[in-house]
Amino acid sequence: MMNFRSYSTSFAILLVLSPVLSTGDATEKPNIIFILADDLGFNDVGFRGANDIHTPNIDALAYSGVILHNYYVTPICTPSRSALMTGKYPIHTGMQHTVLFGAEPRGLPLTEKILPQYLEDLGYVNHIVGKWHLGSYKKEYTPLYRGFKSHLGKHGTKCFWTGHQDYFDHTAVERPGWGLDMRRNMSVAYDLHGQYSTDLFGREAATIIEHHDTSAPLFLYLAHAAVHSGNPYNPLPAHDDKVEKFRHIGNYQRQRFAGMLSSLDDSVGTVIRALQSRDMLRDSIVIFSTDNGGPASGFNLNAASNWPLRGVKNTLWEGGVRGAGLIWSPIITRRSRLHQGIMHIVDWLPTLLEAAGTPTSDIKNLDGMSMWRSITEDVNSGRTEILHNIDDIFGNAALSSNGWKITKGATYDGIWDYWYGPDGRNHTYNVSSVGNSAVGQVLRDLNMSTSSQKIEQLRRAANVECNVTDEAEVVCKPLERPCLFHIETDPCEKVNLADKYPEKLQQLLDILEAYNRTALPPENLPLDPRGDPKYWNYVFTNFGDYTDK
Ligand SMILES: *[C@@H]1O[C@H](CO)[C@@H](O)[C@H](O)[C@H]1NC(C)=O
Ligand SMILES: *[C@@H]1O[C@H](CO)[C@@H](O)[C@H](O)[C@H]1NC(C)=O
Ligand SMILES: *[C@@H]1O[C@H](CO)[C@@H](O)[C@H](O)[C@H]1NC(C)=O
Ligand SMILES: *[C@@H]1O[C@H](CO)[C@@H](O)[C@H](O)[C@H]1NC(C)=O
Ligand SMILES: *[C@@H]1O[C@H](CO)[C@@H](O)[C@H](O)[C@H]1NC(C)=O
Ligand SMILES: *[C@@H]1O[C@H](CO)[C@@H](O)[C@H](O)[C@H]1NC(C)=O
Repeated sequence: MMNFRSYSTSFAILLVLSPVLSTGDATEKPNIIFILADDLGFNDVGFRGANDIHTPNIDALAYSGVILHNYYVTPICTPSRSALMTGKYPIHTGMQHTVLFGAEPRGLPLTEKILPQYLEDLGYVNHIVGKWHLGSYKKEYTPLYRGFKSHLGKHGTKCFWTGHQDYFDHTAVERPGWGLDMRRNMSVAYDLHGQYSTDLFGREAATIIEHHDTSAPLFLYLAHAAVHSGNPYNPLPAHDDKVEKFRHIGNYQRQRFAGMLSSLDDSVGTVIRALQSRDMLRDSIVIFSTDNGGPASGFNLNAASNWPLRGVKNTLWEGGVRGAGLIWSPIITRRSRLHQGIMHIVDWLPTLLEAAGTPTSDIKNLDGMSMWRSITEDVNSGRTEILHNIDDIFGNAALSSNGWKITKGATYDGIWDYWYGPDGRNHTYNVSSVGNSAVGQVLRDLNMSTSSQKIEQLRRAANVECNVTDEAEVVCKPLERPCLFHIETDPCEKVNLADKYPEKLQQLLDILEAYNRTALPPENLPLDPRGDPKYWNYVFTNFGDYTDK
């Protein structure tokens, strides 16, 4: 199995390398700024209709750009990042089961060519700031060796390798141990202690932009720690003044979460301002996306909201997989609208390569489809199906196809299979804060701001409603039997149609089975005791480079 796999993957890579990739025409290639939020819920951003938290910078981008209305991600960090980087479903890279741990001797397979490597072939200069979470037990698995370089002598790639950290001390509490997790290139960045992660990453991104040599296009992957919870001793680390600003929220966890998110929103402003001051914004594509659905109601000690969608992070309900996301660029002439096309996080790789002028039809084995034309020309996305995941260890699977969706099994024995708030609709949305935000001001200079009337119209259109009365609900017990939903008209997964449409159910089960036949076994490995930070001066380390492994 392993032999067959590595053979077929390297064969695919040969095919990929064969076309002659030009490195000229740098001026025609847009800068790509990919801002990935961690654990942000569908209903946490203002442009979705929630009023409790203010995200005026993110909202300003959304209203002036394109809101990805039917955008899907995978339900948890490592699989989502693997999908983004490879353009493949996690079942096709062995990354489908849960996250990577710092002491786990594995990473995203080195046979995979990833997004920055493709972009490097096109002449891009690639930087990563923030969270990696795709393997670090040997240096070859870390960003610096996978296409992310830092040409800034005194800077270097600032990032952390595991799934979360405390926002002030940058340590991670994991099994089997606790340690510092912040690097500048391969060196441990002890000196960053005390600097709030979100601010630090935002400033670092701005510095990269300030020093960027604009004769080459920039790919900046800014993967925030926010709004993932920190460590158990301080699960929701936020600045005190921010927390104070959200007293109206009432629920103290949600109030702290709002503080974290507000800093994330500020950092979006920092990045956009930096791009504008270098006059790079005109040639840039900016993406803002979550990595998975939100951990609501105490899940992971966090307080995100996917309302009115069902479920949370690490479940295959819509709340786990329907993501908050937008794309903004002056290159997109038809802006200030919703993109209705179905899109999945695997689609970014071909989409961005096409935006950079390189159709990817000759890259074999991609699950992603380019959405570039669909987004820019407002035409059908061509995607009718999404495999949400197949995880035979947790025992769950879900698939959407042509407006229908099936779910099988559940994570956590089904205890997170319900609907969680807050709806965030009790407060007032401050439309003028959008125009007054850092992004709003920059957009005004570019003549790209959005009228209040248009903002209200877009917010109404982006608002998802359940559309089902209590009497119409039909219970689904996915641990007993697969469930079927007509997801197009029942986005909240309230009416289980499995009994009503057995043939449709069977049809989707057959498609799922066909995907299952293409799945690789999950690559998860037992934790290696030698990866415990206590053996490495309490630092998460590429321990595989120092042991016999
Ligand atoms: C980080 O690595 C890059 C690429 O190898 C190098 O150009 C840069 O000088 C390094 N920076 C630091 C601070 O080590
Ligand atoms: C919002 O208002 C409704 C109705 O007044 C109330 O039931 C609910 O508890 C309020 N929610 C919050 C989060 O304040
Ligand atoms: C709305 O936002 C503007 C600009 O940020 C601010 O000046 C104003 O006080 C806010 N209004 C309310 C009611 O909070
Ligand atoms: C914005 O519009 C104004 C008025 O029409 C014009 O004078 C200005 O040059 C425009 N600015 C940009 C950046 O297009
Ligand atoms: C609500 O449900 C009805 C009946 O199933 C359907 O015709 C309608 O399109 C749905 N509306 C939305 C917004 O999904
Ligand atoms: C996928 O195939 C494996 C191996 O045949 C089987 O054990 C598993 O139950 C299948 N999973 C699903 C979701 O069909």
